[in-house]
Amino acid sequence: MSPSPITAEAPKNIILIGFMGCGKSTVGRAISQQLNYPLLDTDHYIEEQTGSKISQIFQQHGESYFRDLETDLVTQLLQKDIAKQIISTGGGLPLRKINRSILKSLGYVVWLKAGADCIHERTSKTNHRPLLQSKDPKVLIHQMLEQRNPIYEDCAHLTIQTDDLPINDTVHGIIESARYFFSSY
Ligand code: S3P
Repeated sequence: MSPSPITAEAPKNIILIGFMGCGKSTVGRAISQQLNYPLLDTDHYIEEQTGSKISQIFQQHGESYFRDLETDLVTQLLQKDIAKQIISTGGGLPLRKINRSILKSLGYVVWLKAGADCIHERTSKTNHRPLLQSKDPKVLIHQMLEQRNPIYEDCAHLTIQTDDLPINDTVHGIIESARYFFSSY
């Protein structure tokens, strides 16, 4: 049986953040189905809006241009006052302080945390991530996690260590915590 939506009147969203390969898209889809809230994947949205793949955007315009597109997108979401949506973010979206602040204003921010080995295993199956194109992605992942983990922590209302956690438990944990979070408003 699917749980009922969080509350009838909560204008709130659930936002998933975390490193590449930590499961944001998969978990986002599952929460979206269970709560019957639409899923907005920031990478997919930017690809649709620009008509280009993320890797092409990086190649043609550089990372900073892509970060501007991410900031534009979350700013628009805040202005539109969107509600009851699941937002799955690109792994670098919280890097800008302004984005972190906007994400927190948009709703309940959940950091899906994972260790370097787990991330390496998950991301090594595909090659569409421009920032992981390296001879030694494992070392890169270690370095990036060291730099980024405090940033994710700064942004998150809830952290879930996902490495060995079955997806259903992650999804259930998020829904229950979000329900509690929104009920205390
Ligand atoms: C990035 C993560 C990617 C995508 C882009 C940059 C990052 O999204 O936005 O390649 O800086 O961590 P996923 O986290 O969905 O892979």
